[in-house]
This record gives sequence, C-alpha cells and structure tokens, in this order.
Amino acid sequence: MTPNVSLDAYQNKIKRILITEEEIKAAIKEAAKRIDALYDGRPILLVSVLKGSFVFASDICRAVTVPCEIDFMCVKSYFSGTVSTGNIKIVMDLNRDVSNYHVVIVEDIIDTGRTLSEIIKLLKSRNPLSFTLIALLDKPDRRIVPVNVDYTCFTIPDHFVIGYGLDCAELYRNLPYIAEYNTEE
Ligand code: IMP
Ligand code: MG
Repeated sequence: MTPNVSLDAYQNKIKRILITEEEIKAAIKEAAKRIDALYDGRPILLVSVLKGSFVFASDICRAVTVPCEIDFMCVKSYFSGTVSTGNIKIVMDLNRDVSNYHVVIVEDIIDTGRTLSEIIKLLKSRNPLSFTLIALLDKPDRRIVPVNVDYTCFTIPDHFVIGYGLDCAELYRNLPYIAEYNTEE
C-alpha cells in the first residue's frame, strides 16, 4: 500500500469487527492468569515476536503478576498481498543467554505455523529453563507445519485479519480491535 492511501480506501478495507476491545481485555486477563498459575511466582522472560505481537505483549506484561523481564525478536514473514510465501528472516535476535530463563513467547497469530516452528527450534536449542508459547490468534485451517501452543486466546476461521498489532502492508496495527480485512479490490 502506498503511504498516500486515501482515507476512504483505508477505511473500506476494514470489513467488520471480529473481536471487540472488551473481548480482547477479558482474554488478556485469562491468559495472564494462566501464565501466573503456570509459573507460580517464578520470574519469566516474556519474548515478544515483533512486530505483530507488540500490542498483545504490552497488555500481557501489565496483566501478569510474576516477576517479568521483556525482550524482543523481530521476524519478517514475506507476504505476497495477504498470502504468506513461507520465507522467514530473523531480522533481530535476542542478545542474551536464555539458559537461565523461563521463556514465554508471545505471538500475534499462528497461520501456517512456519514462523513459530522456526522460532521454537531456535530458542529450544538455546536450552531455556522452560518454554511456553502463548498466541493471541490461531487459524488452524491454515496450518502447514504443526506447532504446540500452550495457550491461545482466540481461534478464528481462515480470514485475513488486522488490528491490535496485526497489519496489512504495515497499516492497521493501531486499531484497538481485531477486524476482518476486505480483500476485494
Ligand atoms: P505463519 O504463516 O504462521 O508463519 O505466520 C506468520 C506471520 O504472518 C504471523 O506472525 C503474522 O505476523 C502474519 N500473519 C498471518 N496471518 C495474518 C493475518 O491474518 N493478518 C495479519 N498478519 C498475519
Ligand atoms: Mg507475527
């Protein structure tokens, strides 16, 4: 999308709200409770997979009560329009040794599973004390590579979605809700 997109065209792409702000808030509370119960006072390292999970991670880190450090990895999945090409690049890695940490990965969405399976392989090879995967959204119909998710907030049908961190060509990440993207020209 060009930076000079018209407001009309921008708004027309927001087809309908799938998950409201209130529903997201309630889901964050539940996910945080799960993390708290799982770690029972032990400190965690929350790893946010950028860019898509930055909003989710910022809400999760404020909802958990266990001691929590935060770190970021930036992974780029290459898209042709709204379809993932399967090419993944680690643009920014963690710059710490995770072998002393209980690692909690926070991901925005599991689609084909390719991105997460790569991240999981990489992080597990670094021997963290434990490893948990929390996903905001899951589109199981699209799975190509199996992924073991410990907790998913919402399972959704095979729609391309935007908002709450998720983008289409870098726009819409700032929507406070999750919406279906209008793929019609
Ligand atoms: P994967 O296909 O599971 O590897 O998904 C890779 C990445 O594609 C996700 O982490 C998202 O950043 C992005 N993605 C997948 N589906 C959607 C979607 O519906 N909306 C926006 N981004 C998506
Ligand atoms: Mg992502």
